[in-house]
Amino acid sequence: MQKGLKGVIAVETTIGHVDGEQGLLLYRGQPVETLTGTYSFEEVAFFLWYGHFPSPTEKETFTCALKQARSIPPYLQNVLQALPLETDQMSVVRTAISALGLPAYSFKPTIEEAITLTGIMPSIIAWWHRRQAGQPYLPARSDLDHVENYLYMLTGETHSHASVRALENYMILTMEHGMNASTFAARVTVSSESDLVSSITSALGTMKGPLHGGAPSGVIALLDEIAASDGDCTRVLTKKLQQGERLMGFGHRVYKTKDPRAQALKAQLLQTAGDDPWLDLALQTETTAIELLQAYKPGRSLYTNVEFYAAAIMKAIGLAPSLFTPTFSASRVVGWSAHVLEQAADNTIFRPDAAYVGSWPQA
Ligand code: CMC
Repeated sequence: MQKGLKGVIAVETTIGHVDGEQGLLLYRGQPVETLTGTYSFEEVAFFLWYGHFPSPTEKETFTCALKQARSIPPYLQNVLQALPLETDQMSVVRTAISALGLPAYSFKPTIEEAITLTGIMPSIIAWWHRRQAGQPYLPARSDLDHVENYLYMLTGETHSHASVRALENYMILTMEHGMNASTFAARVTVSSESDLVSSITSALGTMKGPLHGGAPSGVIALLDEIAASDGDCTRVLTKKLQQGERLMGFGHRVYKTKDPRAQALKAQLLQTAGDDPWLDLALQTETTAIELLQAYKPGRSLYTNVEFYAAAIMKAIGLAPSLFTPTFSASRVVGWSAHVLEQAADNTIFRPDAAYVGSWPQA
């Protein structure tokens, strides 16, 4: 038995490949770091769903369909309005996406449905963010692309080209990542011939946990704690490791070398954050944490994962920690949908066995 299904191959896929020994991540055969800076969010989403990059006409039609999916229907705004104000962002996104399924989504899922969910998710996040801040909802701007519009709907401002590129690159780098827990949850759900909305709702519930998508806000908490201790990262990190705590933003189930996404995001951060003193703190924390992890967890190959620099990038752009995991979800919904479509196209229901270790009837 492999606890946590470590190393168990559950599906065959042509969508993405993660090589944890080489530190390689491919989207349909392309190293992910060759996509950032070259293609837009829209183009990479199209590539993951259709298997080729869009022609100019295809790109225009696709971009237009994504834009049309941005508005939140009145019934869904009523659902959002009815939720208690203190509800956390991930619970809100999960609830809103689930409510979106009320007018019939069914097996088999379609790319058009994936476009709807991907288009609306940033609007839901922005709606809730602004409600919690006591600000009115801002309708989407059709003159802005997907990522720039997301930033606009959150803040009501247009952002610098550098900030938009930094967030867009982050969202491209995190769209797809093989058989991670949330993607697996999405595939398991659709394997019962359920629908896309149910699958994405399962994925969002899985993404929420701190061992998966919930880590970035933990990274900021860690960096804030170090900053509050006069930047003494050795003291803070050593105490955590001595208490048996995990350092958020380090370690990965698959990567036993540097996570290529963390590398790409680090390069992006160096460009975006410039001489921000907070950047020095992040760099110093990374170096010290890796040294200490080698001492406290010898032979475990624990390095910085994508969440560490994702958190740093989002802080540099000015996004609140409560937005980190929802923003990750707004990019990963592309990968989830690609996997759900692939699963549905050649489906066998998931039904693993369990090794029973409980008691037996007494003779
Ligand atoms: N800090 C301290 N020790 C760690 C850490 C860490 N971040 N990660 C793993 N370890 C230790 C763990 O305590 C265990 O030690 P021991 O064998 O002495 O008990 C050993 O390394 C192996 O741990 P594991 O839980 O069996 O390893 P895993 O491959 O199942 O865990 C992980 C992967 C991501 C859950 C884990 O590294 C972790 O909890 N990291 C912190 C949370 C985090 O940053 N999560 C984001 C992951 S990246 C986003 C994604 O792709 O989902």
